[in-house]
Amino acid sequence: LVTDVRLRRVLDSRGNPTVEADVRTESGGFGRAKAPSGASTGEYEAIELPVGEAIANARELAIPRLVGEVYAGNQRDIDAALRGADGTDDFSQIGANSAVAISMAAAKAAADVLGAPLFQHLGGTFRGDTFPTPLGNVVGGGEHAADATHIQEFLAAPVGAPSVEEAVFANAAVHAAVGDVLDERGLACGKGDEGAWAPSIEDEQAFDIVSEATEIVEDDVGFEIGIGLDIAGAELYDAEEGVYRYGETVRETDEQLAYIAELVDEHDLVYVEDPIDEDDFEGYAELTARVGTETLVCGDDLFVTNVDRLERGIEMGAANSILIKPNQIGTLSDTVDAVERARRNGYDPVISHRSGETEDTTIAHLAVATDAPFIKTGAVGGERTAKLNELIRIEHNA
Ligand code: PGA
Ligand code: ZN
Repeated sequence: LVTDVRLRRVLDSRGNPTVEADVRTESGGFGRAKAPSGASTGEYEAIELPVGEAIANARELAIPRLVGEVYAGNQRDIDAALRGADGTDDFSQIGANSAVAISMAAAKAAADVLGAPLFQHLGGTFRGDTFPTPLGNVVGGGEHAADATHIQEFLAAPVGAPSVEEAVFANAAVHAAVGDVLDERGLACGKGDEGAWAPSIEDEQAFDIVSEATEIVEDDVGFEIGIGLDIAGAELYDAEEGVYRYGETVRETDEQLAYIAELVDEHDLVYVEDPIDEDDFEGYAELTARVGTETLVCGDDLFVTNVDRLERGIEMGAANSILIKPNQIGTLSDTVDAVERARRNGYDPVISHRSGETEDTTIAHLAVATDAPFIKTGAVGGERTAKLNELIRIEHNA
C-alpha cells in the first residue's frame, strides 16, 4: 500500500525545473522518478504544466487518492487514480509532468518491494534475449540548437552490433569521429540539447560528415552502422502556406515526400522519424507505402504515444513504427498499452528520451521490458549515458 508520495522541484539537463516524485509503501518499498521535457513537442501531447502548478495541483488532487488507497504493485490502479484525480484527457489539471513522475516512481517502489530490477517488474521476465539497439544522436539542430541543421537529428544506428555494450560504444565513437571531421573541416562547434554536434552547416553537408564518420567507425568495429533521422517535420511545416521550410529552401508536401524518399534511397536510411507534419496521416501512408519495407517510418509527434492516434495510423497504413515517450501520455499503463497495440499491428516501438532529460533511467528498463527493437537516448552527456550505462548493466545482469 502506498503510504507516502512526495513531490519536489529539481533540475533537468537544460537547467529548467522539473518534477521529482518519491513513492513509499507500507512494506518498505521506495521509488524515485523524474519527468523529462520536450522542446519540439507534438501538438497532441499531454500537457506539461509549470512545475509549481503541477506540484501544487498533484498534491491537492492526486496524493489523497494514492496514499492509503492503492498498491504500488498495481500499476493500473495507480494510473487510474492519477487519471481520476486529473479528470481530463490530457492531464491539464495535475500536469503530465507530475503524473508521469508519480507513475514511474510507483513502479520503482513496487520493484523495490519485490527486490527485482524495474524491467522485470514491468514485464521483462518473459522477454527474449534480444536487446534494444540504441539510436545515437550525433549531429542536430532544429529546435535543439540555434543556427544548426534544419533536420533535427542525425542518428547513428549500429544495427549490426552484437551487444548493447558494443552498440553504445560504437555510437560514442561515431560522435567522436564526427567531432574530428568537423575539426578537420574548420567547422568546430558546440552541442545541442541532446549532446549532438550543432554545426552551422546545410543538411547535405551533415549527411556527408555523418557518412564519413560512420564508415570510419564501421571499419574499426567490423559491424554495420546505419544512419537514421528525426526530421521533426511539424517544426519545418508552415501550416499557413502548406509548405516545408528549410531556411530559404521551400518544399510543397509532394516535394517533401519525394525528398524524404530520395534521402532514404541515397543514404540507405534505417530509420526516419516525423518526416512530415503531425496532422498529415495521408502523407504518412503514402510515404510508408513508398519506402516502408526496409526502413522504419516512425511517428513521434504524429502518434504522441496515444493509442487512439496510433489506431488511426494503423487503419490508414500511416508509418510502421511509433516513438514511445511516457511523458507524452502521462502514465506507464498508457505507455505500455501503446507499445502493445503497436506490436500487435506490426508497428515497431522505439522507446525514447526527451531533449530535456534527467539522470532517471526508467526508459532503459521500459525498452528491455517491452523487448523494443530500438531505444533513442542520445550518445553522450550524463543524462543520456545514465540510460545507456543502465542498459549495459542490465545486459551484464549487474
Ligand atoms: P523533444 O525532441 O524531446 O524536444 O520533443 C525529441 C524528439 O523530437 O524526438
Ligand atoms: Zn522526434
